[in-house]
Amino acid sequence: MDTHEKIKAKKATIGIVGLGYVGLPLARRSVACGFPTIGLDTDERKIGSIRDGRSYIKHIPDSDVQGMLDGGFEVSSDFAEAMPRCDALLICVPTPLDRMREPDLSYVEDTTRTIARWLRPGQLVILESTTYPGTTRDVMQPILESGEGLLERVSGHGRMEAEEDFLLAFSPEREDPGNPRYTIDNIPKVVGGVGPRSLEAAAALYDALTDGQAVCVSTAEAAEATKIVENIYRCVNIALVNELKVVFDAMGIDVHEVLEAADTKPFGFQKFTPGPGLGGHCIPIDPFYLSWKAREFGVPTRFIELAGEINTAMPEWVVNRTMLALNERQRAVKGSRVLVLGLAYKPDVDDVRESPALELIERLVDLGAEVDYHDPHCPRTHKMRHHDLDMESLPDEGLYCTEFGMGAYDCVLIATDHAWYDWTGVHDCVRRGKRQGVIVDTRNAVTDVMAVNLVGNAVVVKA
Ligand SMILES: NC(=O)c1ccc[n+]([C@@H]2O[C@H](COP(=O)([O-])OP(=O)(O)OC[C@H]3O[C@@H](n4cnc5c(N)ncnc54)[C@H](O)[C@@H]3O)[C@@H](O)[C@H]2O)c1
Repeated sequence: MDTHEKIKAKKATIGIVGLGYVGLPLARRSVACGFPTIGLDTDERKIGSIRDGRSYIKHIPDSDVQGMLDGGFEVSSDFAEAMPRCDALLICVPTPLDRMREPDLSYVEDTTRTIARWLRPGQLVILESTTYPGTTRDVMQPILESGEGLLERVSGHGRMEAEEDFLLAFSPEREDPGNPRYTIDNIPKVVGGVGPRSLEAAAALYDALTDGQAVCVSTAEAAEATKIVENIYRCVNIALVNELKVVFDAMGIDVHEVLEAADTKPFGFQKFTPGPGLGGHCIPIDPFYLSWKAREFGVPTRFIELAGEINTAMPEWVVNRTMLALNERQRAVKGSRVLVLGLAYKPDVDDVRESPALELIERLVDLGAEVDYHDPHCPRTHKMRHHDLDMESLPDEGLYCTEFGMGAYDCVLIATDHAWYDWTGVHDCVRRGKRQGVIVDTRNAVTDVMAVNLVGNAVVVKA
């Protein structure tokens, strides 16, 4: 049976390399679809946690991890032992930007080198990590074909060739962590191969994983470009509404009210929401993979650069609004107590990567504010590529206290609108708090509260 037939018979062993926000749900889906599945990661803590039946991702409950183990899910950091047992290897490792804000493909390259060492005939290798067009063919394929590895011993012709000896494809992940409506189970999966055999096998696998929703494109490059386009579309449109927020604010018009009204148009308009800046692993980073690659072709990417400029300027704008809000109370930022609500980059997740809340905290601390944060999903900060805050969240208990909780702050800055928060309670606590604080609302969270509570509102500044 070749790999394609094994996939159709659900007998193919699927290896997921990188068990993070993308890899773990993918592994869960693979197990649920009846494939023998092996999860591989270099992070021993993640491997240990799964073996103990514990999830390290908030929206994946422990019971799911236990269910995966019960369904035969194996995890390992012993690549030499596990990789040759896999018929397909799906790579879900990070693709960040380096210090110079250029693509850092080191995780993809390291993983590909490891796979190359154990590659065996018939294996299907698929990259899921977001990257620029050309990565699968120009970066991965030469490493896999380099001839170092098991094949030399097996095939006798000394060199592995894509399409001939192994299969290679790209299929971008479209995971939206924490979104209960769209998950890997029901999101169509775009797939492109370095050749027709690779595409056919990869499409069969994703058809099986997505109930027949594999969307085939002609090349791996087209699949890589598709993912980048999706993220650039979001990045540029968010920049647009962020710019409109600043313009309308100067005119005394509420951008949220305008966008909601515009959204009643049943065609030709899609609503994006302004905020304190971009966050997460994808939108602030992926567009720059394309602008970097475009430079090689001498083609400018002005939209991407401009969107990046506008979005990166947002935290500064929010800090300025915070200064103005404190001014209303005749207070300076320096020495003021500021509580940032929400550390994660978006509601109801525990992911703080590239979160604008981190930058807001750093800027306010630089200006001399005494800053605390609260996030029900992020109990403490940990060292990251650009930030090392070493802070702990205020406890949930007592948060709504007017004496010692939110009421004891000069400013409550809403950075993330987790559903956990009771906005009436936040507003009320600040209004009646001992510090008579102000609210800086970057998420339009307390608007409805203020509408029904016109008497004795707290000072609220939208930002
Ligand atoms: N998080 C999202 O919402 C999302 C959505 C779509 C696409 N993506 C893309 O998917 C990719 C993965 O993102 P993520 O959010 O899952 O990242 P993540 O950091 O949550 O997970 C990556 C995992 O890879 C592991 N890893 C690193 N190097 C490895 C190696 N050499 N071998 C094996 N494992 C290794 C890490 O330990 C980690 O567990 C990125 O390219 C990202 O842009 C992410």
